[in-house]
Amino acid sequence: MKKRVLVSGGAGYIGSHVTVELIQAGYDVVVADNLSNCDLTCFEGVKKITGKDDIPFEKIDCCDYDAVDRLFSEFRIDAVIHFAAFKAVGESVAEPLKYYRNNLVSFLNILDASKNHGGCNVLFSSSATVYGETDVLPVTEQSPRQPATSPYGNTKQISEDILRDTVKATAAYGAEVMAGMDRQGPVKGIALRYFNPIGAHPSALIGELPRGVPNNLVPYITQTAIGKRECLSIFGNDYPTPDGTCQRDYIDIVDLAKAHVAAVARMVEGKMKKDYEIFNVGTGRPVSVLELVNAFEKVNGVKLNYKFAPRRAGDVTAIWADPTLAEKELGWKAVRTVEETLASAWAWEKHLAGKA
Ligand code: UD1
Repeated sequence: MKKRVLVSGGAGYIGSHVTVELIQAGYDVVVADNLSNCDLTCFEGVKKITGKDDIPFEKIDCCDYDAVDRLFSEFRIDAVIHFAAFKAVGESVAEPLKYYRNNLVSFLNILDASKNHGGCNVLFSSSATVYGETDVLPVTEQSPRQPATSPYGNTKQISEDILRDTVKATAAYGAEVMAGMDRQGPVKGIALRYFNPIGAHPSALIGELPRGVPNNLVPYITQTAIGKRECLSIFGNDYPTPDGTCQRDYIDIVDLAKAHVAAVARMVEGKMKKDYEIFNVGTGRPVSVLELVNAFEKVNGVKLNYKFAPRRAGDVTAIWADPTLAEKELGWKAVRTVEETLASAWAWEKHLAGKA
């Protein structure tokens, strides 16, 4: 029987790419999304890419426990990938309660339902933001986490801890009926710490769809190139890096999605070495903002209007992954070049503009 994966936030940028890869790898998928930060554009794209137009879509808010519980009653779920969360760093500073409530309550509900329905495998969408500013690069999963610099980052740290503690507390639960309790079972967990996901599916049918002015670099670049934004501001050119601009580990969205398939397989096939595991999902390759801008111009043959601007509050100088553990344990590694990824980002922007 096919294994079934519940993808919360499955209509969003990362969720839609992961849904495609899961289906292509032979999984059944149930997508749950409250459409608070996206519409059905990417979900429709997922159906086109996979040629499957009967993917179950549940418009629910994971902050509603009864709705999550109903999903677990309705479908036999072998694993959950939890993406449903707010992700704008600046907004989280302005509205911390909104972030803590949404990101934590939804995850608590997913874990509670997982535990209450006989146990489940839970993959949590974490972030390299948990490492904060560090001089020791690249970062491994053993690198210490630094105090979070934003409520958004804090929700990632707290959620990792909630998952770790839940796994520990439920490890001894049997999947059978316990006295006075409804089929409680063990939760097993993997946290994937993403570096900077960029790009779009090679079909250009799904990609990032930021609402309003993008916060992240690549959507800002593509929107500037297409003429939606006048000029890209490069935040800071006086950092202690080779060209003075920040360095990040930009990871192709399809590569990133495939890491999820590898992690789900590890869980459902019973191959985890510990009941809670953490993996970096990055390339191991630092790229500066200026290098990324130059690569975008070159590979797509477009001129980008940009200027140097003051540093952005909260930005770290440089961070990139040591992806060795994911390669060893998940058999996964990033394969697409920055150029291929930037070409896909541009194809997606042109698709959106109807120019492709
Ligand atoms: C941030 C979050 C990360 C989150 C990710 C996706 C932190 C510290 N980082 O990553 O957790 O997962 O967003 O939402 O919480 N830049 C410009 N001009 C722009 C936009 C960005 O120069 O208009 C620069 C930034 O200064 C940075 C780089 O581009 O050096 C990447 O920025 P961005 O895409 O926003 O990602 P991060 O801040 O690295």
